[in-house]
Amino acid sequence: MADIDNLQDGKNYYLDLPPRSTPSRIKGSNALDWGMKNRLARIFDPEDARTVMLAIDHGYFQGPTTGLERIDVTIVPLIPYADALMVTRGSLRSSIPAEISRPVVLRSTGGQSILKELSNELVAVDIDDAIRLNASAMAVQVYVGGVHEHESIGNLVNVVDAGNRFGVPTMAVTGVGKDLVRDAKYLGLATRICAEVGPHFVKTYFCEKGFSRVAAGCPVPLVIAGGKKLPELDALKMAYQAVEEGAAGVDMGRNIFQCDAPQAMIQAVRAVVHGDETPEKAFDLYLSLKSVPANR
Ligand code: R5P
Repeated sequence: MADIDNLQDGKNYYLDLPPRSTPSRIKGSNALDWGMKNRLARIFDPEDARTVMLAIDHGYFQGPTTGLERIDVTIVPLIPYADALMVTRGSLRSSIPAEISRPVVLRSTGGQSILKELSNELVAVDIDDAIRLNASAMAVQVYVGGVHEHESIGNLVNVVDAGNRFGVPTMAVTGVGKDLVRDAKYLGLATRICAEVGPHFVKTYFCEKGFSRVAAGCPVPLVIAGGKKLPELDALKMAYQAVEEGAAGVDMGRNIFQCDAPQAMIQAVRAVVHGDETPEKAFDLYLSLKSVPANR
């Protein structure tokens, strides 16, 4: 039995201090429940509400993508530099050590390949398995304007509803397939339609003109994909401009893992996203880190 002999009344109630209640800095998240906010705060640094997510889910429709042939060799050493890892459950279970401390954003739709219509996706992970894997969020691809637009929005509805039952956030990913134009008009339409369905953050592409309007029109955090591999300075410029114009960070894949020096590059991206470093200075950082032997 607990010792109650010396039980004392509480002494200091700080009657001069009003109750503390800290509003979330993560856009659009104030009305969420504790578990949802806690998971989001694992992905988005509570200090600046930004994130550097490392996307390695490309194999779910394009097979052994360059740089991802051996996730256990090339990706695991990058994980300590990422705020979150976007990954399929297959790669997670087979190739990522369970001891990582970084949160997982679980790719939760799939069902197509590069050989066929890209928008033809289904929900590819049950909420039970997402929770079993301790996912901090689930990711759903949505193809606004695509052949299977309706079904892909339906997938988002279903995953958001399932996640809401258990406090697991959802990230909507605007997929453009092979045909859709990545301009501000389209991205503004696609991201807003996604956000209205209720995901807790949205991933989209950056566009040179009008991105600030895309970000402002999305009531939850917007993160950008990196897209195809660019020269490093250009990728850093894109990340810089995106956060300057309202993005909450990046969910970047090829521009990191297809680099000559991925560990140097992810640290340079962090300098831009979390340190507001200029692309030029971040590129200098990349060059200096590139000359240091990488961890394996
Ligand atoms: C699409 O294939 C995946 O969802 C990727 O996560 C996404 O495209 C981001 O990766 P990247 O920066 O290589 O475009």
